[in-house]
Amino acid sequence: MSEPPWWKTSVVYQIYPRSFCDTNGDGVGDLAGIRRHLDHLEWLGVDAIWLSPFYRSPMADFGYDISDYCDVDPLFGTLADFDALVEDAHDRGIRIIVDWVPNHTSDQHPWFVESRSGRDNPRRDWYLWRDPAPGGGPPNNWVAAFTGGPAWTYDDATGQYYLHSFLPAQPDLNWANPEVVEAMHDVLRFWLDRGVDGFRVDVVHLIGKAPDLPDDPEEYLPIPHSGLNHRPETHELLRGLRRLLDSYPGDRMMVGEVYLLDTTMVATYYGSGDELHLAFNFPPLYTPWDAERWRSQIEIVSRELDPIGAWPTWVLSNHDNKRHRTRYGGSEARARAAAVLLLGLRGTPFLYAGEELGLEDAVVPDDRVVDPGGRDGCRAPIPWEPAPPHGWAGADPWLPWPPEPGTRNVVSEREDPASILHLYRRLLAARRRSPSLREGDLSLIDAPPGVLAWRRAHQSGDERVLIVNFSAERVTMPPSGLSGLVEVASDGSGEGALFTGEVGPDQALLIDPGATAS
Ligand code: NOJ
Repeated sequence: MSEPPWWKTSVVYQIYPRSFCDTNGDGVGDLAGIRRHLDHLEWLGVDAIWLSPFYRSPMADFGYDISDYCDVDPLFGTLADFDALVEDAHDRGIRIIVDWVPNHTSDQHPWFVESRSGRDNPRRDWYLWRDPAPGGGPPNNWVAAFTGGPAWTYDDATGQYYLHSFLPAQPDLNWANPEVVEAMHDVLRFWLDRGVDGFRVDVVHLIGKAPDLPDDPEEYLPIPHSGLNHRPETHELLRGLRRLLDSYPGDRMMVGEVYLLDTTMVATYYGSGDELHLAFNFPPLYTPWDAERWRSQIEIVSRELDPIGAWPTWVLSNHDNKRHRTRYGGSEARARAAAVLLLGLRGTPFLYAGEELGLEDAVVPDDRVVDPGGRDGCRAPIPWEPAPPHGWAGADPWLPWPPEPGTRNVVSEREDPASILHLYRRLLAARRRSPSLREGDLSLIDAPPGVLAWRRAHQSGDERVLIVNFSAERVTMPPSGLSGLVEVASDGSGEGALFTGEVGPDQALLIDPGATAS
């Protein structure tokens, strides 16, 4: 049996560097803060870390507007800090995935500064410049994310518009220009040579554009830049990126943010094993806490990905969406059951820092709102210690604390074996022990209404059964001969005992059917 690549069996932990831990007293997290807490991540048992952008940036979109792809913003530290972080993480067996933002730069990037300096500038064509439409106005009807206004900004100096799928401060690169492709490949080489294990590729479905930039159909307009969806040009570019990664030793990986809310379309970005290694699939993230809706998402993922040999990913929270505990109504019991769901499905799970503490979104008063996309709540700082400043360096953090930092922090939860943090740790340990959980097949099994149950099975004979009760009722599983020991219970009850057939409200269980009571 050949070993699967690391990115199939890993649990990836997303860090939003601004919010993780501040060590230098400016109220913003930094690379040294991440390095300081690697011990904790090793204790928790994650296999890889994905770092949201830490590159030089004017921070119009908090780092997703990059002015130098090959340097660390002084706010976060230095390249030496980055190298030290990679080395320490690797020493602990933790891999490093960095964010890479290929669709757009900052308007302060020297490439764009040159590009906008004149129509004859050699870098003019590195971005998408167009004349006004006949009669004036933007060249087409595309809409920008965040502003909801035109995806075009007029530049007085040169009398043309430039395209920006997001803020005006984030001009889109022109990937039809081979010089852009080469320059961006060089960026990847820079980080690959520094030892990174992979890239999380921002809005990668947007990089290829139809050369004539046609109008979006009217029905697409409410979803910004959806008319750019699904361009054949993108697939060719992805194959080029894949060849580059594959030319390096050590299974370097890219996971693409394919922000298309349709799993059938997402599946095409795996190509035939020659495009993305992994693609985020967001429909489950937007699925409410409902057994039937989740069953359908699991079926869709199997139907679309299994036949093409594509490996799924699962995400419940990230830096762009309300945390799932908040979305599911705030109950910790549900957040715990959701952890069993996320870590029991077939595919690579992505955790978002703080979900293992059961954090909810912060309440952000109007005068502290900073994000143009309204995403501040889920980006609240991580509390490490019970007493203020909660393990941060002292200055007020850039965003308010999430609720209950005095108890919902790493130190307090580590001391309490009944905490949600310990539940995550037990689940991660269970995955490491079980080949069926890491890489086995998944088949849904009979369960009462409001309950989802499935079996994971590995060719070695290893098996696990997972049961998630989405309902507020205690339920009894059908008498199917299902037996075994409860390996992990979302509320901690009955672990190590025989499964009774009963599942409590908002409870989830991981059962080892092969185990017998000693
Ligand atoms: C997706 C990122 O996750 C989000 O945070 C960012 O604002 C946009 N892409 C634009 O880069």
